Amino acid sequence: MGVNQSITNMIATSIQNQIKQQVTQDPTFAKLYKYRQNQFFQRLEVYWEDLIRPLHHLYGHLDTFEPWLADTITRIGRAYAQRPHELQLLDEKRLLQPDWYQKSNMLGYVAYTDRFAGNLNGVADKIEYLNELGVTYLHLMPLLKPRPGANDGGYAVMNYREVNPKLGSMKDLANLATQLRRNDISLCIDLVCNHTAKEHKWALQARAGDQSYQDYYLMFPDRVMPDAYEETLREIFPDFKAGNFTYYEDLDKWVWTTFNEYQWDLNYQNPAVFTEMLEIMLYLANQGVEILRLDAVAFMWKRLGTDCENQPEAHLLLQAFRALSRLAAPGLLLKAEAIVSPPQLIPYLGRGVAANKECHLAYHNVLMVVLWSCLAERKAVLATKALQNMPLIPSGASWVTYVRCHDDIGWAITEEDAAQVGIDGYAHRTFLSDFYTGRFPSSFAAGTTFQFNPKNNDRRVNGSLASLAGLETAVTHTNWSEVELAIRRILLLHNLIFAYGGIPLIYMGDEIGQLNDHSYLEDPDLANDSRWIHRPFMDWEKTAERHDPQTITGRIYQGLCQLIEARKRTVVLHAETAVYPIWTHNDHVFGLLRDNPRGRLLILANVTEEPQTVSHDRLQQLNFSGLLYNRLTEKPINMWQDLTLEPYQVVWLQQAT
Ligand code: GLC
Repeated sequence: MGVNQSITNMIATSIQNQIKQQVTQDPTFAKLYKYRQNQFFQRLEVYWEDLIRPLHHLYGHLDTFEPWLADTITRIGRAYAQRPHELQLLDEKRLLQPDWYQKSNMLGYVAYTDRFAGNLNGVADKIEYLNELGVTYLHLMPLLKPRPGANDGGYAVMNYREVNPKLGSMKDLANLATQLRRNDISLCIDLVCNHTAKEHKWALQARAGDQSYQDYYLMFPDRVMPDAYEETLREIFPDFKAGNFTYYEDLDKWVWTTFNEYQWDLNYQNPAVFTEMLEIMLYLANQGVEILRLDAVAFMWKRLGTDCENQPEAHLLLQAFRALSRLAAPGLLLKAEAIVSPPQLIPYLGRGVAANKECHLAYHNVLMVVLWSCLAERKAVLATKALQNMPLIPSGASWVTYVRCHDDIGWAITEEDAAQVGIDGYAHRTFLSDFYTGRFPSSFAAGTTFQFNPKNNDRRVNGSLASLAGLETAVTHTNWSEVELAIRRILLLHNLIFAYGGIPLIYMGDEIGQLNDHSYLEDPDLANDSRWIHRPFMDWEKTAERHDPQTITGRIYQGLCQLIEARKRTVVLHAETAVYPIWTHNDHVFGLLRDNPRGRLLILANVTEEPQTVSHDRLQQLNFSGLLYNRLTEKPINMWQDLTLEPYQVVWLQQAT
């Protein structure tokens, strides 16, 4: 037995009973029927190892560890007692069907409440539209009460228990969650757990000199420590401010501010911060939120001499959040937002002892990046290698796949992956930045540069999906053959995120091909952040054309609907089964293989505007021969000759049974 294990066991015996006693004495918990009390204690027993392991690593050295733990679990017991009846039933449903979010019928939609429907009540009126698309998961962008003025798109929260008054109230949120759930749509919202707005009450108390709240943040009396940290830190928003610390005269202190000056990083070395955030999670879960998008999780733990990203403790925090939140709300899913390079990304879904015990979901930013890379290069070689190099994820976890999001695209391509296919990582990233900002000769894209960093020449890219895929340039030049190609690119990108497995996300407006929107420049609170170029207002007038196949809107929308239908019926796309990128022996055709007890599916995608062929021999080597069906069309394919794919065509091949 390892040392840690015996410590854990000792803790188990010495304090479990004490905790139970304390929980039972809580007046809210005490009112519960015996059966429900026992259910809580049963969960505590079952999840004990999962919670004590990370917590002991994080906070076990503190004298206050045991009373803190008892107090934290008592608070969870209270949240458990307050869980509404309908949500208790939901927990039961999720526990009965733990793979619900991995199924091929899952489809995500992401929208800004105001830009989509005015306010939260307005969203309820759009449920029909979402149902028509087949949406099962709705992510409403940050909606908790932000600081006034500039607020980083809502990622600077001043009150986690109130909704942005412009969008409605907490009651409206709970009502909306209920209505969505009754339509089989799970609500996802952001929980900004790395930082608060500097106007949050904790920050205000800290500013007023309260030491216990100053300990909620990372504050330094002089530049000694900030300078030491800066040696190895990145700058995330170099255009917005230099460095990662901000000086406040009234405090006479430097405060850690990774993002904007008004976003203060929280200090998770302080267990009180952990408990506060956990209680907020359960509060939101009790309003009916089913998925929490945990923002900027890579930054949650700082360590001198490192880039202070992806530290082991950041993972332990997430594991502890998961184990503890399950005591009160086992149906809740945690989604990691960690836009980091491949080796750093996978652990957010749990490795080793933490497999299936960290986040349920994580954004597959690597897939997103390599797909754009395929389109720019007209080659699938880097995508194949980079994805092959990614280790498998645990069977109970799932990717969230997307072709673009509300943020910029950063070219997360490692030197190693690039070198393995004979290209230079730096040069390739530069090429992609040039290509997607339209600087590269003959580029089809119309994106803009974001956060150029002269120190390392890093240039990220903004732009709506349709504009990056060439629709804007084609429409501007009334070039119909280019319009056709742009539509095909849009569908190809969606096709591949649908086929990869996981929850594919459609970003609001992409289903109707909305272009870059420059109106943000007129709003002084938004004007300096060009990410707003791809966060348009929903063009409801345009949606009226969605059923007309003669229109660009109709082509895109209906193409997507066909993909959504095909995905639903293709059960082999269940996320629990791994997908392998394969060499197709044609550099211009990207291949993915699913081979598992649910079935075998070969996905082939031509990433160029020329026809491409995959040889009959290669298909035979992969054991695809005889009578095959293209699951996208449900039509048979003649496999006695080479397979030719039209420009940007994708096929999903399955052996006839
Ligand atoms: C995440 C969000 C991004 C925000 C940042 C700081 O990366 O996606 O929009 O600026 O966190 O909260």
